[in-house]
Amino acid sequence: MRGSFRSYLLFLLLPLLLVLHETVIHNRRHHTNNNAAADDDDLALALSTSSRWIVDDRKGGERVKLSCVNWVSHLDAAVAEGLSKQPVDVISKKIVEMGFNCVRFTYPLFLFTDDKLGSMTMRQSMMKLGLSGSIAGVQVNNPLLVDLPLVNVFQEVVSNLNENNVMIILDNHLSKPGWCCSDNDGNGFFGDLYFDPKVWIEGISRVASMFKGYNNVIGMSLRNELRGRRQNLKTWYKYMQIGAERVHAMNPNVLIIISGLNYDLDLSFLQTNPVSLSFSKKLVFEIHWYGFSDGDDWITGNANEVCGRVIDKIANNALFLLDQGYPLFVSEWGVDQSGTNDNDNRYLNCLLGWAAENDLDWTLWTLVGSYYYREGVIGMEETYGLLNWNWRELRNSSFLEKISPLQSPFQAPDSNALAHKIIFHPSTGLCMQSHSSSLGPCSNALELDYTQEKILIVKGTNYCIEASEMHTPVRVGVMCGDDSSTRWEAISASKMHLSSTDKNGNIVCLDIDSKNNIVTNDCKCLSKDYSCDPSSQWFKVINSTSFNIAPSPISISQRPILDGSISSS
Ligand SMILES: *[C@@H]1O[C@H](CO)[C@@H](O)[C@H](O)[C@H]1NC(C)=O
Ligand SMILES: *[C@@H]1O[C@H](CO)[C@@H](O)[C@H](O)[C@H]1NC(C)=O
Repeated sequence: MRGSFRSYLLFLLLPLLLVLHETVIHNRRHHTNNNAAADDDDLALALSTSSRWIVDDRKGGERVKLSCVNWVSHLDAAVAEGLSKQPVDVISKKIVEMGFNCVRFTYPLFLFTDDKLGSMTMRQSMMKLGLSGSIAGVQVNNPLLVDLPLVNVFQEVVSNLNENNVMIILDNHLSKPGWCCSDNDGNGFFGDLYFDPKVWIEGISRVASMFKGYNNVIGMSLRNELRGRRQNLKTWYKYMQIGAERVHAMNPNVLIIISGLNYDLDLSFLQTNPVSLSFSKKLVFEIHWYGFSDGDDWITGNANEVCGRVIDKIANNALFLLDQGYPLFVSEWGVDQSGTNDNDNRYLNCLLGWAAENDLDWTLWTLVGSYYYREGVIGMEETYGLLNWNWRELRNSSFLEKISPLQSPFQAPDSNALAHKIIFHPSTGLCMQSHSSSLGPCSNALELDYTQEKILIVKGTNYCIEASEMHTPVRVGVMCGDDSSTRWEAISASKMHLSSTDKNGNIVCLDIDSKNNIVTNDCKCLSKDYSCDPSSQWFKVINSTSFNIAPSPISISQRPILDGSISSS
């Protein structure tokens, strides 16, 4: 009760304060950068949805694939992490350089509803937590920000991302600044200690209107990871619908992104009871999927069985939304990038295959190399972070290479004429190539048709992929369908082993050798065994579209050479 009375008073004061901030910031921005043109509505990027795709109407409905990274700004200091380590512009440019086109920028609701918090300077906020080292770092790397109020620091980061052409999704991560999330942290569901629905609606509306002038703010996540003992569907529908309407009314440009129950793992209830809104083409649903979402199942179970089971669960909990005509945004996933967490390693290969197959929009957890202050620890390392502790280098460049094919769209909407399949190998992040039996960049993948008879025909030719002898590279042959060595079935619970029969009648699976050649071997780890890792044999036949070049069917005389020899059988 006392809490809500206080918030009510703040509502009376806050608009005044924010107007003042806005004026200052606008002037600053127009002084420093004429190109920012932040208040020119014509330049605002307004994305919308077209069935399951996110598209840009200004470009004739061209698909925009969101390949984002989470940049955290919701912890105790309520400041975008990393500003003590690198200038904001260097960080924004790094994001672009790493191949991302978008940031999911997290914020604590109280930053915009509690005037005492919003008007506190970065220096004061850090001082309160005893972060003198961070203050010194900010003074060196971002001297112009250190004495700005926290709301303005947040705006400056958005502004800088905007100037670097990075799209921004504003994510209301929790209410009270701090690490997220647990059932009992008071931020979990409407009615919890720090989660007054009225304050929330007011706060997200204010954010919607405040960032209207920033061209690249393309989406708002209404609330992250709803959870805890208060969660219930009636309240969820009520406030998600009110929140969506209010945000849309304040800023009709942004995509409205809605999270499910149980830490954003569950949207299954939408199968029968859709959200009802007065507007269309703006609604996106988000889910989260981590290795630890399933405890330590990935190492205590057989990886094929776990992958199959978890993907089935997600199909029921969220993926069905694609068929309902909504984009599904995997707004948090990620791994310990040291490579020593086998639970994460096995999960990652399963997730990558699934995300590529469905060509989903996504956000990696996380950009952050280290936090100013997290859960009582100063300068905590983030092992799930792309950047290392000092925000200078990549924590693990092989991780970024591996996920990089997912940064580009595999498919364009409504382009059946250009549709084909490619073969993706998640554990290397590579695809089967046109001119050898090796793996290579997916941008140069061999284009195939996968027929009902399970033949992998090289697009525009009479040739198909054929199993040769055990332990030798696959090749192209002409006995397509006549010979069982040309029929490929996705087997095991994960459906990620591509299996055929070789010339000698052995059951084989696609695999890779030490030089990344695609060979056939005995199928491994198909079931039960939990100690072995099947991922070298995990492949996905995925839908793909030719983008830049019109498809030029390969004529017989230009047939692709897989291993340099046509099968003569
Ligand atoms: C990067 O990840 C790979 C694959 O998981 C792992 O083998 C390697 O040791 C990691 N490198 C570093 C520097 O952590
Ligand atoms: C791949 O494309 C086929 C043919 O258009 C379609 O039936 C199938 O559902 C697509 N698969 C996925 C995972 O989108």
